[in-house]
Amino acid sequence: MTDRYTQAVNSGFTKTLATKLGLPRPALLRRYRAGEPLTVGPVLVVSDGASKADADALAQTLLGWDLDVRRDPGDDVRFGAIVLVLTETARPGDASEAVLATGSVLRRLAGNGRVVTVSRAAAEGDAPALSAARNAVDGFLRSLAKELRGGATGNGIVLTDDAAVDQTSVLATLRFFLSAKSAYVDGQLLRVGPAKAGAPAADLTTDRPLAGKVAVVTGAARGIGAAIARTLARDGATVVCVDVPAAGEGLARTANAVGGTALQLDVTAPDAGQRILLHARERHGGLDIVVHNAGILRDKLLANMKPAQWDAVIAVNLEAQLQINETLVQAGLENLHVVSLASTSGIAGNKGQTNYAFSKAGVIGHTRATAPLLAEHGGTANAVAPGFIETDMTASIPFATRSVARLLPTLSQGGEPVDVAEAVAFLAWPATAGVNGQVLRVCGQHMVGQ
Ligand SMILES: NC(=O)c1ccc[n+]([C@@H]2O[C@H](COP(=O)([O-])OP(=O)(O)OC[C@H]3O[C@@H](n4cnc5c(N)ncnc54)[C@H](O)[C@@H]3O)[C@@H](O)[C@H]2O)c1
Repeated sequence: MTDRYTQAVNSGFTKTLATKLGLPRPALLRRYRAGEPLTVGPVLVVSDGASKADADALAQTLLGWDLDVRRDPGDDVRFGAIVLVLTETARPGDASEAVLATGSVLRRLAGNGRVVTVSRAAAEGDAPALSAARNAVDGFLRSLAKELRGGATGNGIVLTDDAAVDQTSVLATLRFFLSAKSAYVDGQLLRVGPAKAGAPAADLTTDRPLAGKVAVVTGAARGIGAAIARTLARDGATVVCVDVPAAGEGLARTANAVGGTALQLDVTAPDAGQRILLHARERHGGLDIVVHNAGILRDKLLANMKPAQWDAVIAVNLEAQLQINETLVQAGLENLHVVSLASTSGIAGNKGQTNYAFSKAGVIGHTRATAPLLAEHGGTANAVAPGFIETDMTASIPFATRSVARLLPTLSQGGEPVDVAEAVAFLAWPATAGVNGQVLRVCGQHMVGQ
């Protein structure tokens, strides 16, 4: 549910009042519904001269997705999205024309519109001018995103040197950023590398991208975990829902709602990995996706922190993920996609959360190290770092702090559990095999951290 403030300032008398008083008016975000168009209007594809061939290739793909694609801004079109292609820009000055052309149509970007940059990562050995041009896109995109209004977002795809613009993982990421599935992802740049050679071509337009897959979601009884289970099931996966016995009722509710199975298990148990693997294999014949979502908070200033508060958070949020991953890596499963829940606290730090931030920064660390191990078998390990999401966990935060937290991101509101779930489903998608070892923030472009 969108929070009450956002609802109030977008409807009836309270909307008029909020406008008169100059109160912040967070937009109602458009979220994914099957059958609805990918974008809210035509897509403009812009590039500098050197990147024109890549822009042409992307425009062809967008046409294949039945989008109304324009290469010229015209003067009366209201755009649903702008794709700015700067993949071959050699010097910073070469980007000017395309960047300013993008600026000239921003006032015609529709509410809930999208700006997506496509560029290349600076790499070792780049000439200084090339490195400057490539890195410049980072600052540009993050600033541009802060200037967009009405629920519009800006995100970037950053190709590694060996990745081609028309490969499946790049197109899958472009589709996610253009779509309503990325409603609360804003100001983020995601690095995409080459996918495994010989990977089968995926249908990027399907409504059931995870059909036939078996997924395990820990902490699935409520909150973000329950939303992840629902979203993976919506996308076609069979879902094993895991939670502690004390949360058995909620667990059964989620498992029934998604037509999956429930596994009562404390993820800190020494044999948790084995039990998950056994359940998935015996009940569903295999395991393709693991989502490490179970997590707890025990907030205290470090000076007042009791050993039990520190240890519990590290055990559930970090050690359990590590231990389960060790089992999965040893099992050598093919094409396994692991997605771990981190947090913006683990990136930017947060007062009173040294234990939590230690655990979540640790999650980012093991994700990067696990990525190449799973890639050997065609798999991936990625993390999703939510900002402020409306759940039971955040409902326990005092009202005043909660209200301020909602207004800090560029999108001026908290996210919904489904926003995190959409990011997880995106990273669990076989088509995104070229996205590996990455951290995707789902935070509405919260001002903390990068
Ligand atoms: N809500 C937010 O704003 C937010 C922000 C950043 C990150 N996160 C992360 O997202 C994840 C889900 O958060 P949420 O807000 O839905 O939390 P929540 O407290 O609503 O749900 C967490 C679930 O994990 C389960 N769990 C706890 N310990 C467990 C254990 N040992 N074994 C198995 N299950 C266990 C709980 O029973 C519960 O069902 C967590 O990892 C959290 O750190 C949340």
